Amino acid sequence: MCAHRSPSAVGTRLTCVASLIAPSILSADFAHLADEAAAVSGGGGADWLHVDVMDNHFVPNLTLGLPVVKSLRAATDLPLDCHLMIDDPDRWAVGFAEAGAYNVTVHAEAVADPVSMALDLRAAGAKAGLSLKPGTDLDDWVEVLRDYDTLLIMTVEPGFGGQSFMPEMMDKVRRARTMVQTGHLTVVVQVDGGINADTIAIAAEAGADCFVAGSAVYDAQDPLAAVRALRRTVER
Ligand code: DX5
Ligand code: ZN
Repeated sequence: MCAHRSPSAVGTRLTCVASLIAPSILSADFAHLADEAAAVSGGGGADWLHVDVMDNHFVPNLTLGLPVVKSLRAATDLPLDCHLMIDDPDRWAVGFAEAGAYNVTVHAEAVADPVSMALDLRAAGAKAGLSLKPGTDLDDWVEVLRDYDTLLIMTVEPGFGGQSFMPEMMDKVRRARTMVQTGHLTVVVQVDGGINADTIAIAAEAGADCFVAGSAVYDAQDPLAAVRALRRTVER
């Protein structure tokens, strides 16, 4: 098993290339989040549970915050992968790490001091993630990414589930993978938005190794079977 599947790996580098599947609870039933986490847990199921935090400022949508993450932490053993689509993450992100999130991702377009952010997240016991919106150039963030554990490449405009995958983002994924292979970066390369049975193969081929899927998992009749099917496709 890859070291970063386990919360006990906090503090280590995330360098192996086994694939990770992270169902997004944005498409789950918010009144039954503990059950929805359980619904994707089990053999071949979710590696991480992706939690989309939106503030109606950075994105035009409002979801959930720290109290819900604290409750989720107590309700599931799955590592929580918190994706903060919020303004002023410098103020809020460490709180999610302190609440027990496994990985906390902030947006490059919102963070004021990305290097301190990564240090602070790691000091609080979490992995540090940086996310790029579709229009944000990877080249501008390469130096900063040397301090990060995960790179989240958005394959839709952030804000809503159920949007269509943007294949033109695969160039960014390919370049990130090359930087990992050549030792310039040690990040997990994560994709988020429009990932389903068809598009996951495209993203895997381009070099992604962590796949967020919301509607493809939680709109399915059997969410656990949907996660297993996504994993089989990637591993093929
Ligand atoms: C969108 C969120 C995603 C969302 C993905 O801004 O960051 O995590 O849940 O949903 P799907 O997989 O339905 O595109
Ligand atoms: Zn997300």
